[in-house]
Amino acid sequence: MSPLSITRALPADATTAALRADVVQGLTRTPKQLPPKWFYDARGSELFEEITTLPEYYPTRAEREILRARAARIAAATGARTLIELGSGSSDKTRHLIGALPELHTYVPVDVSESALTAAGEALLAEYPGLTVHALVADFQRGIPLPAVPGPRLLAFLGGTIGNLLPRERSVFLRAVHDLLSPGDALLLGTDLVKDEATLVAAYDDARGVTAAFDKNVLHVVNRELGADFDPADFAHIALWDAGNEWIEMRLRARRDLTAKIPGVDLAVTFAAGEELRTEVSAKFRESGVRAELAAAGLTLAHWWTDGKDRFALSLAFRD
Ligand code: SAH
Ligand code: AVI
Repeated sequence: MSPLSITRALPADATTAALRADVVQGLTRTPKQLPPKWFYDARGSELFEEITTLPEYYPTRAEREILRARAARIAAATGARTLIELGSGSSDKTRHLIGALPELHTYVPVDVSESALTAAGEALLAEYPGLTVHALVADFQRGIPLPAVPGPRLLAFLGGTIGNLLPRERSVFLRAVHDLLSPGDALLLGTDLVKDEATLVAAYDDARGVTAAFDKNVLHVVNRELGADFDPADFAHIALWDAGNEWIEMRLRARRDLTAKIPGVDLAVTFAAGEELRTEVSAKFRESGVRAELAAAGLTLAHWWTDGKDRFALSLAFRD
């Protein structure tokens, strides 16, 4: 049997049903909003990978620096035999962990993007022929049906993706992570840190417009999946820093009065010129907040590591 298996944890039409529900809910309320997970079809996953190479987008490089420096320490502290990764995408930075974990037997990447999982799984197996890869196509906010895997387990959630959840969603999510782990298992969590506004806004509004294309990709997804007739050129990409909430918001601002038809949900949605659709929140963190959110979920922070410029942090926490 091939050591790569891909399990769809979602029923065949669950993705479209969930998109329909989010579109109806999000586009009939004021202000309009959509959850960021809908960026990631095959094109969206490619655009995200391109973002990670942009000069303005520092988080990927900063997190890689920490992983390189701390992988051996993480391996010694966890002794992990199974590595589970949520929102694994290309699993590119994960190689620093896989290469450093001497006892590693099984890798379980979990993502909504099947194309990203297939490409990552095949590449990893070519590089690590002894590794068993159980890829899971699943929404990590809707329960993670883990296969039976050997412990100790290390669950990685990298890239700062936890910041794409709203505070209430984060507490539900972290409690679910706690419940997935056994005592002594560990969580490795990447969080982007609060910093000056100019650096943050540039990271989400790059000069080449790759992030703008990523933002507008959600309109392409709604057009394709629900037969809608959004013209992405009718919208401007906006990134703004909300200092009160300490998060970046990405929005799409209508350039003119317009009505979009969405036959898949039998809806016509009207935008006034200047009206905005929030497409993503990307929260930035401080050590005290991360420690408190983990503690509230029954996870104890054991290590807090940052890159040389204090832009990004990796936390290693253990289930009580
Ligand atoms: N971990 C990688 C990729 C981050 S991009 C890195 O650090 O570079 C965010 C990833 O999370 C994407 O691959 C996206 O498809 C996935 N994702 C977003 N929301 C998700 C959800 N609700 N459930 C599962 N995967 C999700
Ligand atoms: C995946 N996530 C952590 C990215 C972020 O920085 O919030 C998604 C992204 N959005 C715009 N650029 C990158």
